[in-house]
Amino acid sequence: MLTVENLRKSYQVGKTSYEVLKGVSLHVGKGEFVAVMGPSGSGKTTLLNCISCYIPADSGSIRLGKTELARLGEDDLAEVRNKQLGFVFQDFLLLDGLTVRQNILLPAIIGGLISDQTEARADQLCEVFGIAGIRDKYPAEISGGEKQRTAVARALINHPLLILADEPTGNLDSKSTRAVIRSFQQAKEALEATIFMVTHDSYAASFCDRAVILRDGVVWRTLERGATEREAFQDQLLDAVRDMGRSDS
Ligand SMILES: Nc1ncnc2c1ncn2[C@@H]1O[C@H](COP(=O)(O)OP(=O)(O)OP(=O)(O)O)[C@@H](O)[C@H]1O
Ligand SMILES: [Mg+2]
Repeated sequence: MLTVENLRKSYQVGKTSYEVLKGVSLHVGKGEFVAVMGPSGSGKTTLLNCISCYIPADSGSIRLGKTELARLGEDDLAEVRNKQLGFVFQDFLLLDGLTVRQNILLPAIIGGLISDQTEARADQLCEVFGIAGIRDKYPAEISGGEKQRTAVARALINHPLLILADEPTGNLDSKSTRAVIRSFQQAKEALEATIFMVTHDSYAASFCDRAVILRDGVVWRTLERGATEREAFQDQLLDAVRDMGRSDS
């Protein structure tokens, strides 16, 4: 599904170049729910932006299915972004002038994919995420958790291969966080979605199949949940973060 190999990215600030990603390699399989963790400034957002091709990597490879993203031209990239990737951002980015249902349909409209089928899919997504009752409301009239569930539904409208989420629970209280995580789980179970979620929150990450922890520009550790209970997995994640702090000093 998604394979990242030896990805490098540096930022130029004045005459100095800061290397943020120093050879990141990872794989996300179809239907997996993977969390990316790591301290602030460790390059999580940079990694996500490279995968979505919003910023060019310096070197390395990013393959989505059989497509090497680094080699695509602008038009092909726009097509991949619109049809094969779904995005969920921290601050939702819903359009205030559109209803919940219209917001969900937006990527289909942009991609010229609007049809009876996509309209039916929007209604199906509203059912899956428990927002059918509010689908004709505007963003100003719904709660934070409902906005984020709308954003998750919108990310799924074009049947993307992969959903990329940057701190999707960052602005939410614990109840809304649970609702968003539940919507990702539903997307995975009911719709076979593949999800790659950046989060600093060990609670949110504990629902994932796997957590990839970045440190100093590389994958420092990968933790598989396997059959571990969620609470125990969260403890493992907290231990790992603590270990990382310890080996700092
Ligand atoms: N456009 C930019 N120009 C220069 N430096 C940048 C730029 N964007 C990010 N950086 C630097 O790169 C490093 C990694 O940033 P990034 O946003 O990827 O971190 P992050 O892990 O997402 O952090 P956070 O948890 O705070 O969101 C930071 O030191 C940041 O200051
Ligand atoms: Mg970030």
